[in-house]
This record gives sequence, structure tokens and C-alpha cells, in this order.
Amino acid sequence: MRIVMVGTGYVGLVSGACIADFGHQVTCVDTDDGKISALRAGNIPIFEPGLKEIVQSNVAQGRLAFTTALGEALDGANAVFIAVGTPSRRGDGHADLSYVYEATRQIAKALTGFTVVITKSTVPVGTGDEIERIIREVRPELGVAVVSNPEFLREGAAIHDFKHPDRIVIGMNDQRAKNVMAEIYRPLYLNQAPILYTDRKTAELIKYAANAFLATKITFINEIADLCEKVGADVQEVSRGIGLDNRIGPKFLHAGPGFGGSCFPKDVRALIKTAQDYDVPLRILEAVESVNGARKRAMARKVSSVFAGVLRGKQVAVLGLTFKPNTDDVREAPSLALITALQDLGARIRVYDPEGMEQAKQVVTDVTFCQGPYDCLEEADAAVIVTEWEQFRALDLGRVRDLMACPVIVDLRNIYQPEEMQKAGFAYVCVGRAQTAQPVDVYVPSGQAPSLALIGDRSTGL
Ligand SMILES: NC(=O)c1ccc[n+]([C@@H]2O[C@H](COP(=O)([O-])OP(=O)(O)OC[C@H]3O[C@@H](n4cnc5c(N)ncnc54)[C@H](O)[C@@H]3O)[C@@H](O)[C@H]2O)c1
Repeated sequence: MRIVMVGTGYVGLVSGACIADFGHQVTCVDTDDGKISALRAGNIPIFEPGLKEIVQSNVAQGRLAFTTALGEALDGANAVFIAVGTPSRRGDGHADLSYVYEATRQIAKALTGFTVVITKSTVPVGTGDEIERIIREVRPELGVAVVSNPEFLREGAAIHDFKHPDRIVIGMNDQRAKNVMAEIYRPLYLNQAPILYTDRKTAELIKYAANAFLATKITFINEIADLCEKVGADVQEVSRGIGLDNRIGPKFLHAGPGFGGSCFPKDVRALIKTAQDYDVPLRILEAVESVNGARKRAMARKVSSVFAGVLRGKQVAVLGLTFKPNTDDVREAPSLALITALQDLGARIRVYDPEGMEQAKQVVTDVTFCQGPYDCLEEADAAVIVTEWEQFRALDLGRVRDLMACPVIVDLRNIYQPEEMQKAGFAYVCVGRAQTAQPVDVYVPSGQAPSLALIGDRSTGL
């Protein structure tokens, strides 16, 4: 089949490459000249494990091409996916659908015959109806079937997720689309991936409900972590204890600095807004959003508590900028709000991330970008582990201790064990577990008593 992917970002590029790998003829279209030129030159504009190989091999076999010319790409296409961004709309938190509708208008103008138009972007309930309306307005004579086919891939594991999905959701109100959709996903169907056919609005809502539920799970365990700190319990044991219950499951129960990334924050906001518009406020989700928002600055206070609340002039090394490991994506990453909050408290910031430095440079200011983790830790008064990159899990602790001005580690991902860190001579602060920070005179500001965190009192949980 001939497929066009409109929008060649994290989702469009991965989806396009994987669909080409299924054996279809795919053209990825983007309005960003630089992105298309890079792809044509064999360069992948994002970091996603395995993506380069799959793109290269499908380009070499003539199944995958890149262009900015939508009209040419659409000539004779059986199906066109819309995979453009749907960020939060400035000011009110609704999904900004301007890219989707602009792409729709361009597609409508260029279509040459009956085509299945498939929304892969995450869009609020009812967007499919509007896409259909726009196409009928621009091209009343044309036959189209508009389908919702939300994407559930995770950045960092995107190729695997696309090729081994837990389910494929297909929402359609026009049976003519069914054969086309079945043909596109035939290899996955043969692998027995569950395909859920439903109506279009239900499909649109499934995507938001899935992300909102996962965001709620994370926020729930983060609040339990706060309680653990107060009562002297261990959140990791609590997670394990509840996660072993099949009704709950172990995933998305890792306490940390709060969820971020390109999807959860904006999708939670958009679903809250949709529900308000329909006069069905989603109170649980409203609480999730506000709890998660407050958490980032609370993490900065966690750092400052080690210094009795006085961070002014301290040098803080931030390890990890991306919202999760194995991506270069820093959109709404917890690191961003944390850095701002630390700067507000007067700290000087050094940062390092294995893949996210280039993207971070566009959004983070007044920080020192470092060459590697050890460079970042040099002369630091505290290190904050924000993203659980593999290379941060195996730091040479002796070397780290020697490099730092003060041996303080704030581990927001719980990747180290408190006992191990104590043995290595660190004041160690983590999330939802008993802390082992010990009084270390050198970093207690002169004339001030050591903070509770330095006393390491299990009953205070600090
Ligand atoms: N990133 C993820 O992990 C993920 C997962 C599931 C769903 N989604 C959803 O998929 C959608 C895309 O997300 P993304 O992260 O890939 O976004 P992205 O910003 O990485 O990519 C969007 C691309 O669309 C291009 N574009 C915008 N308007 C265009 C037009 N008219 N014609 C052609 N190209 C155009 C942009 O230049 C950009 O390259 C969003 O709705 C998102 O919520 C994302």
C-alpha cells in the first residue's frame, strides 16, 4: 500500500519507518525543511534507539522516502496519517489543534481520490468529526474515511512498542476504512496483537484515558512516597507490595520528581479541559495535575533542606535533563522546573545529560553545560540525579567523592541504595525512603545548626 505520514517527529518518523518495514511504501512529509534535508542525507534528527538502522534499511530498499512536497506524496496514496504535534494551547491548557487542522486543510487540497485519513496525533474527543467536516468543506466531491488510530509508543522504546503493541486501537465510523487499516497492520495482526475496533470518539478518548490513568498512578505513588518519608516507611517496598497484586501491576509505581515529558502533562491538561467543557469535571485528574505541578519545586526544597534551606551561592550538579532515559526529548522534563526552582533559591547550576544537551540548550539558561558526569560533579556542593540514565547508575563513587566540594547526593530516582552511599561517605537524600544523610560540618553554613536532613533521623524521614 502507499502510505503518507504527515509530521515526521518522534511519532511520525518511528511510525513511518516501522510501517515501511512492514512492507508498505511510505513517504514521510514535514514542513521543517531542515528535518527533511537531514533525513535525506541519512541523519536522524532525534535520538531513539534502533531508529537509524530501520530508517536506513528501508530507505535503501526503496520503501521509505522524505519530502516537504505533500501534494506529490499524496498522489495515489491509499492512506494518510496525521502525526503532527498537539501541544498545550498557550493560556488555557486545551490541546492546540492548529497544526492538525492546518495539515488537514493541506491534505484536503491535495487528495486525488478516495483516501483513508488517519489521526495518529493525540486529539480531543470530537476532533475526527472536525477533520471530516474540514475535508468535506474543502473538497465536497471527494470520498474520505476519517479514522482515529492513537499511538501508544514510549520514547526510548518506540520501535519495540510500535512493533509489539499491547493493542492497536482503531476508531472509525465508516466501514470502507476497515480493509485499509487491516492491511496496514496485517503483520501485527498476524503476530496476534489485539486490534480493538471501536467508534471514532471512543478511540480518541481511550488515548487520553490511558495517559491520564498512568499519570495518576505515578502521582499516587509520589504522594505515598511523601508519607513514607514522614512515617519512616520505604516506598520501594510499598510499590513492590502493591505492584505484585495483579489488579494493580508493578509498572508506573516508581516514586520520583513527578511526571513530565511530551505527553502526560499536556494530555492531562487537555482531558481536564475537555471534561470541563462538557460539564463533567474530572476531580481526580485536577488533583493529579496540581500535585504533580507542585512537586518539582518541592524537589528543589529537598535539595536546599540539606543546607538548612540556604542554597545561595551553592553549586548544584544536575545529572539528567531528558524526561526519561534513552531519549533526547526535554519537553516538560522535571529537570526544567527543578533547575528554575534551584536558581530561584540562589544556586549555581551545572548540567549534564548523555543525549539531551542540544535540546536543553534551547530552553535552559544561565547554567554551565558540562562534558560528562564527572566534569559536571567537579567542585559541586550537591549532585541531583534527575534522570535515571544507565551511566548514572554506575558512577565511580570514590572519584565522585573526591571531585565534589561537598559529598551530597540527592537521588530523585532512587537508583542507589542508602547504605551503599553512606558507606561511600555521602550525605544521601532520596525519595520515599529512610535517608542516611549525616551531619558533615563542611557544608553546614557557618553559624547555622545542621538541618534535620543532616541528622538523618529516620522518624522525621528527612
Ligand atoms: N512523543 C511521543 O512519545 C508520543 C507518543 C504517543 C502519541 N504522541 C502524539 O503524537 C503527536 C506527535 O507527537 P511528536 O512527539 O511526534 O511531535 P513532534 O513535535 O516531534 O513532531 C511533529 C512534527 O510535525 C511537523 N508538522 C507540523 N505541522 C505540519 C504540517 N502541516 N505538515 C507536515 N508536518 C507538520 C513538525 O514540523 C514536527 O516535525 C502528538 O499529538 C503527540 O501527543 C506522541
